[in-house]
Amino acid sequence: MELKDKVVIVTGSAKGLGKAIAEKCFAEGAKLALWDIAIDGVREVAVKLDKDGKRAKAYEVEITDEESVGKAMRDTVDDFGRVDVLVNNAGISQHKTIDQMTLEIFERVMKVNVTGTFLCSKAAAEVMKGQKYGKIVNISSLGARTGRPGVGVNYAASKAAVIGMTQTLARELGPSGIYVNCICPGPILTEQTRQYPPEVFATWNAGRAIIKDGLPEDVADAVVFLASERSAWVTGITLDVNGGILIRG
Ligand SMILES: NC(=O)c1ccc[n+]([C@@H]2O[C@H](COP(=O)([O-])OP(=O)(O)OC[C@H]3O[C@@H](n4cnc5c(N)ncnc54)[C@H](O)[C@@H]3O)[C@@H](O)[C@H]2O)c1
Repeated sequence: MELKDKVVIVTGSAKGLGKAIAEKCFAEGAKLALWDIAIDGVREVAVKLDKDGKRAKAYEVEITDEESVGKAMRDTVDDFGRVDVLVNNAGISQHKTIDQMTLEIFERVMKVNVTGTFLCSKAAAEVMKGQKYGKIVNISSLGARTGRPGVGVNYAASKAAVIGMTQTLARELGPSGIYVNCICPGPILTEQTRQYPPEVFATWNAGRAIIKDGLPEDVADAVVFLASERSAWVTGITLDVNGGILIRG
């Protein structure tokens, strides 16, 4: 029960990593505000976790829209009284090589991954400052740290921006008792990535030290650590969760 009674927002929690993060936080005793643009999906997750809706509620949020984020934050505070943890998980990718990458596709990915993370963090920081406590966990990507196959410049740039934002926010907000950390997952098996041919997934995993495939639960465990009191002297870090892909030599 590492997160007993902590109020945790997870963006993009209708499926994939966000859903696994929500489930793990719930198992650790958290009260959950499940944010997603896919309201039906996130409602399903909330009902499955807690059919009474006392410890898990779904909110329809477009994270690139300041008004939508502001409303969801107000509703979350109205429902749960505070916000202890924000997990900035919602993100998209749209892979193209540079010759195929249009300005529109570039900006779309930047908007969700960078502007969305910024808007949610800004809204959460306001609430957390009042509490003199809070934890923000950003989900970046291995794609920000290596030029890997299947990662477009839009996604790589957006996830590198999330690492930069993490460090700056950690410094800015640390004196207010707010921690800001970041996780860079390697290739994770989700409904979506399971649709790729196994050889493509294997290419992404080249050089990995641990043979086991990465699962959403592996990322969720790292989130619980950074959201809990176990990380009471950890801020501004980028935690690589990738089975050792980045080991050199
Ligand atoms: N799957 C991987 O292998 C992997 C690896 C590294 C990093 N990541 C990162 O982890 C995060 C989750 O990835 P995933 O594979 O679970 O993705 P996913 O596509 O399965 O789920 C993303 C969720 O975010 C929601 N979402 C998207 N845009 C939104 C918006 N504008 N407003 C609100 N909600 C929005 C979607 O509706 C969806 O429920 C992303 O930030 C992704 O970049 C994933």
